[in-house]
Amino acid sequence: MRNTIASFIFVLVSFSLSAQKYDLAQTPPMGWNSWNRFACDINEQLIRETADAMVATGMRDAGYLYINIDDCWHGERDSLGFIHPDAERFPSGMKSLADYVHSKGLKLGIYSDAGTYTCGGKPGSRGHEYQDALTYASWGIDYLKYDWCNTGGMAAEAAYMTMRDALFSAGRPIVLSICEWGTNKPWLWGGETGHLWRTTGDIHNCWDCEMGYGTWGKYGVLNILDKQNGLRKYAGPGHWNDPDMLEVGNGLTLTEDRAHFSLWCMLAAPLISGNDLRNMPKEVLEILTNGEVIALDQDPLGIQCFKYLDEGDFEIYVKPLADNQVALCFLNRGEKVVDVNFDWKQNYIIDGQTGNSYDFAKENYKIRNLWLHKDIGTTATVLKSTLPPHDVLLIRLIR
Ligand code: GLA
Repeated sequence: MRNTIASFIFVLVSFSLSAQKYDLAQTPPMGWNSWNRFACDINEQLIRETADAMVATGMRDAGYLYINIDDCWHGERDSLGFIHPDAERFPSGMKSLADYVHSKGLKLGIYSDAGTYTCGGKPGSRGHEYQDALTYASWGIDYLKYDWCNTGGMAAEAAYMTMRDALFSAGRPIVLSICEWGTNKPWLWGGETGHLWRTTGDIHNCWDCEMGYGTWGKYGVLNILDKQNGLRKYAGPGHWNDPDMLEVGNGLTLTEDRAHFSLWCMLAAPLISGNDLRNMPKEVLEILTNGEVIALDQDPLGIQCFKYLDEGDFEIYVKPLADNQVALCFLNRGEKVVDVNFDWKQNYIIDGQTGNSYDFAKENYKIRNLWLHKDIGTTATVLKSTLPPHDVLLIRLIR
């Protein structure tokens, strides 16, 4: 009897916990964020023009819905403690901006911080969580990125639960993006609290670099990739590991942009573009809107990839997909060309976590090259390819 009561209470508690965050982000959220390209140099004109560009370029139709304003939109709190946007940069106010963004079939995101000040030194939400959540809901905000600067003495899980509950009480479905850089292992508690959680410090637009600034760091594409090891079991529909926003179009080479985008899709990462959508070379747009690659990221199973093979500079990542299909990403991390000679029949791929398995000695798959948009044979013959430095071969296998 005691067990029955305990199970009943457990079910009740689990139900109320998950009900606190609505069924949002069933696939990784897609959108744009101002930080990577514009940092604090933002205003309402940029946001409106970005919304226009999202539609005009076809990004919205490719699935990018959220226009997210990052740090530095803030003005002051008034005498009652309500936050207002910077009146010079956002003279029309957030409600009117949200109306505009919504009129384009898009959603508006905003940024705050669990501490006293944001990382950019603007007013944080500490002590104002319920008030800020009500304010965001009244403006029509759809997504909140909640940062972790100036939080001395606070407990991360509790701080994020407070904002989760505040958003829930405000009565508007708002995606909660936990941004505490992996410091307090958010993958262990983020699933009950938010819809995505940053797993690392900030991304930097380099292939392989690490920059330390005392208590925090910035990382290149490969450095962030390597920090995802062991985290895949925590991700799934409604709760995602977030290896940070995209640097596609922000100064990597086109090959690196393509590899970065491929890897983030393999990781089932949120796809939050961070470039200037108003001035985007055709090649960058083609990367960001490649529907066959995006489909890996948005696959309904929501299974993050795992590393199947590690030969130093040459790696293979595998991502199980719906309908018994599977994606493979062959990655050349290094500076020399890699000759790929992959004999499928010698490889029986088993995903230890999900139980998905692919026995190429027994089953034949068609191979689709997702960057060339071409069928390139089957797994009956050895896959031969040449991988330039910092490049990928990205394929989907179809039975
Ligand atoms: C932190 C976050 C970044 C960005 C800045 C804004 O560094 O990790 O993504 O939001 O703050 O100040």
